[in-house]
Amino acid sequence: MRVMAINGSPRKKWNTATLLEKALEGAASLGAETELIHLYDLNYKGCISCFACKTKGHKSYGKCAVQDDLTPFFKKIEGVKALILGSPIYVGISTGEMRSFFERLLYPYLTYTDPPQTLFPGKISTGFIYTMNVSEAEMTKRGYVHEFNRTEMLLQRIFGASETLISCDTYQFEDYAKYVSGLYDPVKKAARRKEIFPHECQKAFEMGARLVRGKG
Ligand SMILES: Cc1cc2nc3c(=O)[nH]c(=O)nc-3n(C[C@H](O)[C@H](O)[C@H](O)COP(=O)(O)O)c2cc1C
Repeated sequence: MRVMAINGSPRKKWNTATLLEKALEGAASLGAETELIHLYDLNYKGCISCFACKTKGHKSYGKCAVQDDLTPFFKKIEGVKALILGSPIYVGISTGEMRSFFERLLYPYLTYTDPPQTLFPGKISTGFIYTMNVSEAEMTKRGYVHEFNRTEMLLQRIFGASETLISCDTYQFEDYAKYVSGLYDPVKKAARRKEIFPHECQKAFEMGARLVRGKG
């Protein structure tokens, strides 16, 4: 029973990576073998519109034909029990690396048949962890939630059961005094990091365990 997590943050030890590690710990607590992949370590691009994955009779129909650092990952994913994605919000959406990864992961499985179908073999559970600077209220005001819901629905259509975990008002800088950042109160940020973030870590742990238990 394998569970993979994908870190869409360039930082390997900060908010997103920490929550992903906790989710993997939750999965491991039920016996899963876990792996964390850092997208920023890999060389790849988004979809190049070659359409091999949509070509009648093509050996790559339903699969991404591009050969790069994502190729071994795409082979592995079809055998996992759960896939956990994580990304910071960069300019209102997940990071560019996560978006490019998503194009390559999702598009080959989506058919242009009427009605559209998924070519993913079987079912796996997925989870998506988002981290961001803004508060919950500001997140709602900015409409980020629509994008989170849309992504969750897409993951459900392609892979099976999916859930979303959100961590707001994250601690962004190691030392706030070094940066021009009047918008954020470092004392409040530190308090949130100390008091709320551990609960979010616990929720991530529980999510990891739930995804392993789920039927997908
Ligand atoms: C390039 C860039 C753009 C960002 N844009 C946003 C944004 O639009 N909204 C937001 O709430 N936070 C934004 N942030 C803050 C990050 O989402 C936040 O600090 C996140 O928790 C960082 O994740 P990490 O600690 O895993 O790297 C941005 C950060 C960077 C570096």
